[in-house]
Amino acid sequence: MVKINPNFLKLQGNYLFAEIARFVKEYTEANPDKKVIKLGIGDVTEPLNPTVIAGLNEGVAEMSRRETFQGYPPYEGFDFVREAIAKNDFADRGINISKDEIFVSTGAKEDTANFQELFSTDMRIAITDPVYPVYLDTNVMSGRGGDFANGRYTNVTYLDCNAENNFIPAIPTGKVDIIYLCFPNNPTGQVATKAQLTKWVEYAKANNALILFDAAYEAFIREPDIPHSIFEIPGARECAVEFRSLSKTAGFTGTRFAYTIIPNDVMITDETGAKHQLNKIWVRRQATKFNGVSYIIQKGAAAVFTSEGQIQVKKTIDYYLENTKIIGAGLSKLGISYTGGKNSPYIWLKTPNNMGSWEFFHKLLNEANVVGTPGVGFGKCGEGYFRLTGFGARANIEEAMERFAKLKF
Ligand code: MLT
Repeated sequence: MVKINPNFLKLQGNYLFAEIARFVKEYTEANPDKKVIKLGIGDVTEPLNPTVIAGLNEGVAEMSRRETFQGYPPYEGFDFVREAIAKNDFADRGINISKDEIFVSTGAKEDTANFQELFSTDMRIAITDPVYPVYLDTNVMSGRGGDFANGRYTNVTYLDCNAENNFIPAIPTGKVDIIYLCFPNNPTGQVATKAQLTKWVEYAKANNALILFDAAYEAFIREPDIPHSIFEIPGARECAVEFRSLSKTAGFTGTRFAYTIIPNDVMITDETGAKHQLNKIWVRRQATKFNGVSYIIQKGAAAVFTSEGQIQVKKTIDYYLENTKIIGAGLSKLGISYTGGKNSPYIWLKTPNNMGSWEFFHKLLNEANVVGTPGVGFGKCGEGYFRLTGFGARANIEEAMERFAKLKF
């Protein structure tokens, strides 16, 4: 008899975005004449920019010639793209990260999901609530969750983010080992200041903890004083790993390219207390389980980091941010309060009349044919909240807000 990994039975329901897709599919099949506008999953809609397309085409041409053909790519990524990242994302911002500390992959989802397997199963994790479900679910799959009781896993430290703390988590009072932070935050759209991130780095250093920092949305930051990287904070090189992605930055959700930064200074210990360099362990894991990112995609990705690529990427992000402005203005007109949207593609709104998140989801789908994401799907503290994204064609965003205005609560 084949026995299941019992941890999988501890997962609560389906993956959030799969569940939403199921409801939308059911609705569209039953109502084929309705035009459904999707502002649910954060998926980009604008095409890849011309510089990226040129990079991809160059890669295709090189693959067609014997002299430039490439077989398996390096596990860590090609030097040309790692060097471009080190310069553009870090050196140009005065941050010291070398190309050897950058590891290329197919997505921040898989990197944030896979990274936890480097750590002992008795490590205590801290996650914010609400949270991107991947961090929690993958730790539950590995047996780090404990039991599920009263809407929460017993072995997880939850850091509540609510209107009272302006959606900024408080530093834990007890000891945790691994802390997941995401800024600009998915789902609340909130950003963290240098002073706030400094407190996390101080906590991590004082408690021998590790911060897993998801910066997938950093390119949406427009306020000058908001840090784009945890490595802008002194001391973070010893206690943090950062996940970045071109999915939202450059429209790569379907193309797939991300990268994880593991400074050489981050050490973890074994049972005897001996220290091991974390990035060497990641390389060992990747070499066994991963065969790299396609050369063609890495050529397209490298184009993002050229000066022309950066101008074009910014233009597309500005377009999405203009969308979030339109959503925000529409909500304000209706007296609906929200956070996010300024330095983030996400708007986190309080449901009218304290409606439950799923109740609001179904009302919006059925009465306005607009899809969003129920806040409670990101955690207990998300109940009564709802996430909209600014990813979408302008005309659809405008139409969605017109439909919103006609809803009766
Ligand atoms: C989201 O909508 O939260 C994201 O698109 C999901 C993801 O990046 O996997």
